[in-house]
Amino acid sequence: MLNVGIIGISGYSGKLLLKILLNHKDVRVTHVSAGTTTGKVSDIHPEFAGKTRLVCEKFNLSKAKNLCDLFFVAVPHTKSMSITPGLLKAKKMVVDLSADYRLKNSSVYKKWYGVAHKDKKNLPKSVYGLPELYREEIKKAKLVANPGCYPTAAILALAPLMATHSKKIASIIIDAKSGVSGAGRKTVLSLIYSEANENLKAYKALCHQHAPEICAYLSRLSGKKVDITFVPHLIPMNYGILETVYIQLKSPMTAQKIYSLYQKFYKTEEFVRILKPGCQPETKNVTGTNYCDIGFAVKNNMLVITSAIDNLMKGASGQAVQNMNLMCGFKENTGLL
Ligand SMILES: NC(=O)c1ccc[n+]([C@@H]2O[C@H](COP(=O)([O-])OP(=O)(O)OC[C@H]3O[C@@H](n4cnc5c(N)ncnc54)[C@H](OP(=O)(O)O)[C@@H]3O)[C@@H](O)[C@H]2O)c1
Repeated sequence: MLNVGIIGISGYSGKLLLKILLNHKDVRVTHVSAGTTTGKVSDIHPEFAGKTRLVCEKFNLSKAKNLCDLFFVAVPHTKSMSITPGLLKAKKMVVDLSADYRLKNSSVYKKWYGVAHKDKKNLPKSVYGLPELYREEIKKAKLVANPGCYPTAAILALAPLMATHSKKIASIIIDAKSGVSGAGRKTVLSLIYSEANENLKAYKALCHQHAPEICAYLSRLSGKKVDITFVPHLIPMNYGILETVYIQLKSPMTAQKIYSLYQKFYKTEEFVRILKPGCQPETKNVTGTNYCDIGFAVKNNMLVITSAIDNLMKGASGQAVQNMNLMCGFKENTGLL
């Protein structure tokens, strides 16, 4: 049995981590903590009543490090880089759900997250936790940077094309839509029910912090610098991300060629489902699951790839557990089906 800790239990991804891990046959949750929230987990999240006696404490490294072999750090970006170094120093494995270890270039991090990176020492050691692309590195990693929710859907949508046909691409536009839980469980005026419900809006157009993450890993795949146009939207749903990716090709590709390419690329990937030509993914088909559904349409030089995930599952906690399974030698889908 692996002893695991969840830092950030009072948040949405922390809560979902606990739900998954309570049903995971190879782990025992031995520590839960938060920033300021304290008390019985069953009081913080009443859905756990009768299911756990865990008590949430304010995070304290010297206490926590003796209780677990692996920690999920599910705290806001800029906070993890103050917590994770101590865990690594204590020889613990870490799956970080924040953005703090995703961008290898600390200047790019500073530009997009507004603060200097505080843990440049561990930055080179992190492995980007997208199992479909970096499985073998994840298996050996002590620190996994779990991808962002928008980047997970975008990179999976584009990976087969970027890895094999990047020279054919003239431009990429990503129109992304997310449910409100994507912003976490904090109180923000624009996220309260009467503001977000019955409303649809773009936000952080061309300046969302996930754009450099998407570019960095698409560039790595294609072997050259990739730029994208990225516009996210807030939709009045609790969960779910749908991304519509418009790819201007330099020369036409047939529907059959695209379908074969994607099927072949993801042939052995349990959590990526390629839909038949003519079918499009829907958020409701992936809600509560760790799947990413991908569809497409092509006409002349315009290729449209669509992808849907649950922002808190494949976009956060589900993928984090998938990464833990790989790091610890468990079956990759344990707890996720
Ligand atoms: N929501 C998503 O769909 C999603 C998807 C992908 C990635 N992520 C990333 O995952 C991380 C967690 O997201 P979330 O949506 O679960 O956030 P959230 O609902 O806002 O929860 C944040 C959690 O972090 C805790 N926390 C804050 N500062 C802390 C500190 N200094 N030490 C210990 N705990 C601290 C909070 O505790 P208190 O309540 O006591 O302050 C809370 O439990 C974020 O970095 C986010 O960007 C989220």
